[in-house]
Amino acid sequence: MSDLIRLVYASKATFCDRHVGARHQVVDEIIRQAQANNRSDGVTGVLCFDNGCFFQALEGERDAVEALYDRILEDPRHENVWLLWKRPVTQRLFDRWSMKYINVDAYIHRLLERERLENFDPHQFSDPLVEELLLSIQASEARPETPLQAPVRWLTRQEAQRGWHPSFFVAGLAGMLAVVIGLSLAGLL
Ligand SMILES: Cc1cc2nc3c(=O)[nH]c(=O)nc-3n(C[C@H](O)[C@H](O)[C@H](O)COP(=O)(O)O)c2cc1C
Repeated sequence: MSDLIRLVYASKATFCDRHVGARHQVVDEIIRQAQANNRSDGVTGVLCFDNGCFFQALEGERDAVEALYDRILEDPRHENVWLLWKRPVTQRLFDRWSMKYINVDAYIHRLLERERLENFDPHQFSDPLVEELLLSIQASEARPETPLQAPVRWLTRQEAQRGWHPSFFVAGLAGMLAVVIGLSLAGLL
């Protein structure tokens, strides 16, 4: 019988005093290590890193996930490791990803703003937010690059000052066409 669980935690990186390139190198190394091990251990999941914080979801057989989490707890590359979730599940959310790195994009930032969280700090995430975030990440493969509900595009300040906007051109063209058609119908052309 399968004993599938999903475990989610938040932690704080210990290497944030290094420059950006060195920080990315550490995260790359973690991802490489995770993907190699998880493939053989049947573990899947996602890892986000932003604002010096990690947010990771691990899925797999209980023994494999718990053994991995014990190793992760001992890892000196992060601290303040807080367990957010550990639940039995019937299905994986991320069955195609041995460990997918997720950028904290505009979509995720909008979720945080809605929760009045100024920065990406998963230690502050409520249970429903964790769930919503995981579902949103799962759906992210199908998510378009632009926000789903793109805001109405008002004139930028420069366009307003210049008195120009792409839609003015289209409106002008349509107006000229209407005049030409009108004149031809009146027999003047
Ligand atoms: C934020 C973070 C996430 C990690 N995720 C994984 C993971 O998903 N799988 C994994 O095997 N190791 C992961 N590691 C690395 C483990 O802590 C540990 O170093 C590694 O599993 C040891 O593997 P090895 O015995 O092959 O050297 C992670 C480490 C950190 C800091």
